[in-house]
Amino acid sequence: MTTPYDVGVFVGSLRKESFSRKMAKALIGVAPATLKLEIVEIGQLPLYNQDDEANPPAPSAAFKARVRKAQAVLFVTPEYNRSVPGVLKNAIDIASRPYGDSAWNGKPGGVVSVSPGVIGAFGANHHLRQSLVFLNVPALQQPEAYIGNAAKIFDASGALSDDSVRDFIRKYMDAFAKWVELNLAKQRSAVAV
Ligand SMILES: Cc1cc2nc3c(=O)[nH]c(=O)nc-3n(C[C@H](O)[C@H](O)[C@H](O)COP(=O)(O)O)c2cc1C
Repeated sequence: MTTPYDVGVFVGSLRKESFSRKMAKALIGVAPATLKLEIVEIGQLPLYNQDDEANPPAPSAAFKARVRKAQAVLFVTPEYNRSVPGVLKNAIDIASRPYGDSAWNGKPGGVVSVSPGVIGAFGANHHLRQSLVFLNVPALQQPEAYIGNAAKIFDASGALSDDSVRDFIRKYMDAFAKWVELNLAKQRSAVAV
């Protein structure tokens, strides 16, 4: 088998019992073998400060290098006030700068939003997509992944316990794997021309 693609997974919550983190682990658990997914932590990052761009703090530089190494990116996020939590936006900003040297550029991506509410964090999902357009991260469009009722789909150990959600996320990860392959193949053939 060929080497699986390195996928960075970014969780937009620092909460210990975060539903988004549980969902990220469930997504990793059902992913096809063509992908090797790893949660890339963001809680250690300082607040982005443009004054530090030329000489960024060590955690920011290490984070950006990890993003750079990833071949694809998957965001699993809750919604805060109908948008993306600040911790996730901060991480995105850190790896995006200096201007013209973004580590996100061209990496195929996916967005899974998670909420205990019924709307499934739709607002966060689409605010995040707005940034991804600018960052030139082609994000999987279908299936969309708005995971609602998050307080009811995990068991006491944190494992996903809802079969219909498991079926859905398996289909999602199969589609995401195809999306990653398609985009990286396109990039390889563009380089070869
Ligand atoms: C500051 C804040 C704002 C929130 N705003 C929203 C919101 O706009 N939409 C929503 O569905 N849930 C909202 N919630 C509830 C979160 O969905 C809930 O706390 C969820 O468990 C957070 O995700 P996590 O479990 O991954 O930490 C908000 C929570 C906080 C702390």
